[in-house]
Amino acid sequence: MVDVLLGLQWGDEGKGKIADYLSPHYDVVARFQGGPNAGHSLEIAGKKHVLNTIPSGIFHRDCINLIGNGVVIDPVLLQAEIERTIAAGADVKHNLYISEKAHLILPTHRLLDAASEESKGDKKIGSTLRGISPAYQDKTGRAGLRIGDIHHKTFDSLYAEALEKHISLLKYYAFDYSSLVELEKKWFDSLDYLKQFKFVNSEYFINDFIKQGKKILAEGAQGSLLDLDFGSYPFVTSSNTISGGACVGLGIAPRSIRKVTGVFKAYCTRVGSGPFFTELENETGELIRTKGHEFGATTGRPRRTGWLDLVALNYAIMLSGVDELIMMKADVLSGLDKIYAGVAYQDEGSEINRLPYIRHDKKLTPVLKEFDGWQEDISQIRTYNELPETFKDYVQFTQNQAGVPIKVLSVGPDREQTIAV
Ligand code: GDP
Ligand code: IMO
Ligand code: MG
Repeated sequence: MVDVLLGLQWGDEGKGKIADYLSPHYDVVARFQGGPNAGHSLEIAGKKHVLNTIPSGIFHRDCINLIGNGVVIDPVLLQAEIERTIAAGADVKHNLYISEKAHLILPTHRLLDAASEESKGDKKIGSTLRGISPAYQDKTGRAGLRIGDIHHKTFDSLYAEALEKHISLLKYYAFDYSSLVELEKKWFDSLDYLKQFKFVNSEYFINDFIKQGKKILAEGAQGSLLDLDFGSYPFVTSSNTISGGACVGLGIAPRSIRKVTGVFKAYCTRVGSGPFFTELENETGELIRTKGHEFGATTGRPRRTGWLDLVALNYAIMLSGVDELIMMKADVLSGLDKIYAGVAYQDEGSEINRLPYIRHDKKLTPVLKEFDGWQEDISQIRTYNELPETFKDYVQFTQNQAGVPIKVLSVGPDREQTIAV
């Protein structure tokens, strides 16, 4: 059976930490979408590791880690990630499996991502510039290269065809692509390097495990509000980040999913452009950013910060059929006198509790509920009963509003800083 773990906000909820924390209960951890736009941080015994494409079960000896067909792979970044993960002590050679059907991010995809963003001026998406959108465009345009193609004699001609098209697009954007020769060399070298790893027909691979009664954790990347269909389009990523994405990104049937776990922060962050109705563009927002180290794990960009948005959270819970919740980073809110959560929006004079159809510049004012804060440092607490009453009130309210139990509270980045409720 498969359990799905995914983010319910705009990414960076703490999926990596929780996937690592839960991994001992699973035989396989599988990524089903996204690519190196993701940055999943794990902290083990005080040491921080950032994973981009490799699933977050890699630091457990007995755990198989699968990069699914729904993922897009940049060979250069994957090589660097593999090398640093091996240096950190993981048995990547033995435990990493890669779907033959995963699509490749070409050097020109990265250039096209930059060219497209530059052409948008102040309407830019704020992409991670990892070539994600152009790679998925070629996938849906039926012109993509898959990693399984590298063993085939047609690979060079497929690459040449893609290159020709991409160069004409770069010319259309009048984008300087003089770095291409150097990028291509590294790319082909890394493709060669990756040949030593295990490529699998991943849909059979994973369904065989399901038949054998093994336990699989499908690890999402990004967050539900960045979903291509349901996020604040066009300020989204280019894959389906909701639980349905796990079926197509791994080749598993909906009925094989037993449980969906949603990870969310006790507040909200967003990196990149797009609507964020509970955003705090003030000192409190800055405080949360500083205390929560809210800077991108992949790009280092400062994350926008704001209060928890329960309307958006409930939307994400609905889309994925979330069964249980995990609340992250409440330790960051310690010391605040008052805490707030958005419970509805004001839209042209009326109060609404659903996300309406929104484009670019739509601005909704959040209706905020006030809570007393907690002054205690909760990061060393390990049992629910020891937590401050005001924090428990906040947890209970959130859980009631969501209609789904909060099963775990994370109070710090380390594996150990985790409280089962
Ligand atoms: P992901 O993309 O969902 O895996 O999340 P990221 O790793 O990008 O961002 C989460 C950040 O918060 C990382 O720096 C984590 O080390 C850190 N983190 C995770 N859980 C907690 C927590 O409960 N408290 C604090 N203070 N930091 C946390
Ligand atoms: P993890 O898995 C936070 C955001 C980008 C941008 C938009 C589109 O670490 O939670 P893209 O490069 O995908 O074309 O960018 O999506 N974004 C993320 N934000 N966490 C992520 O991943 C993200 N991956 C993409 O900032 O707004
Ligand atoms: Mg991240």
